[in-house]
Amino acid sequence: MEAITAENLTILYNGKPALGGVSFSIEKGETLLLLGPNGAGKTSLLKTVSCFHREYTGKLEVFGKNPCEAREFIGYVPQSHSLNERVPLTALEVVAMGAVYRRGFVHFKIPPETMRRAEEALEFVGLDGLGERLFSQFSGGQKQKILLARALISDPKLLLLDEPLSSLDPSARAEVARILSKIKSRKGLTMVITTHDINPLLDIGDRVMLINRRLIAFGKPEDVLTDDVVKSVYGPLARVIPVGGKLFCITGDVHLYRHGGGGK
Ligand SMILES: Nc1ncnc2c1ncn2[C@@H]1O[C@H](COP(=O)(O)OP(=O)(O)OP(=O)(O)O)[C@@H](O)[C@H]1O
Ligand SMILES: [Mg+2]
Repeated sequence: MEAITAENLTILYNGKPALGGVSFSIEKGETLLLLGPNGAGKTSLLKTVSCFHREYTGKLEVFGKNPCEAREFIGYVPQSHSLNERVPLTALEVVAMGAVYRRGFVHFKIPPETMRRAEEALEFVGLDGLGERLFSQFSGGQKQKILLARALISDPKLLLLDEPLSSLDPSARAEVARILSKIKSRKGLTMVITTHDINPLLDIGDRVMLINRRLIAFGKPEDVLTDDVVKSVYGPLARVIPVGGKLFCITGDVHLYRHGGGGK
């Protein structure tokens, strides 16, 4: 079954296209890695798939439904999380919020069953025993794991992750990538992951999509990740190098080559 189908999808803001004429589909259980320079339209695509943004033309279906009808199946981990760190929430409370929001209201007292599931979710991401610690006291990599646990607690079928590796050091990137791989193999979720660094995620990517205000390439990693394709988006210094049977992608400084205009 197809998890996401887009045909000639154009995403607009106040009538102005941000991402134009995109067609692709991914099957249930597949992981799509979404790449593109700053302002390419990655976040816009995730927001449209999850019904946060509704101004678009063309066809877009999530599990055969309109995105807004499929909302209950979708988990979203935002780019820069909007939690106010001055609110003294513990890790467990942050995770449990993923379940109480889902039902459309916030409990002031979290039910014991939800707390138990929050503990399980924290254990899944390797943070068992740390639930009582304040969210603000965790490192960037640990916070990202807590946000993954929060998205998992509502048991989504499709998980959308906006730059889950950004602002993490290489070892934290590898750790978060390992948890994403565990989510894929144990839970069989369909995932769309945006990233500027594709290398830690290449093992779990079934499909790669490269966008820059329009679709540049979509397909299997080995077909999409070629020197010609990455140079066309990231400039002449970008390349793809095979290392020990795997591909390694050098995209250089994403701020240097901003094709297509626009701005934030
Ligand atoms: N709320 C909005 N109103 C108007 N234009 C917007 C809005 N959000 C995004 N855009 C525009 O849409 C285009 C794509 O932005 P988007 O945030 O989707 O890019 P991105 O690929 O996620 O970039 P980054 O790598 O910097 O996160 C940009 O030109 C941006 O200015
Ligand atoms: Mg973005």
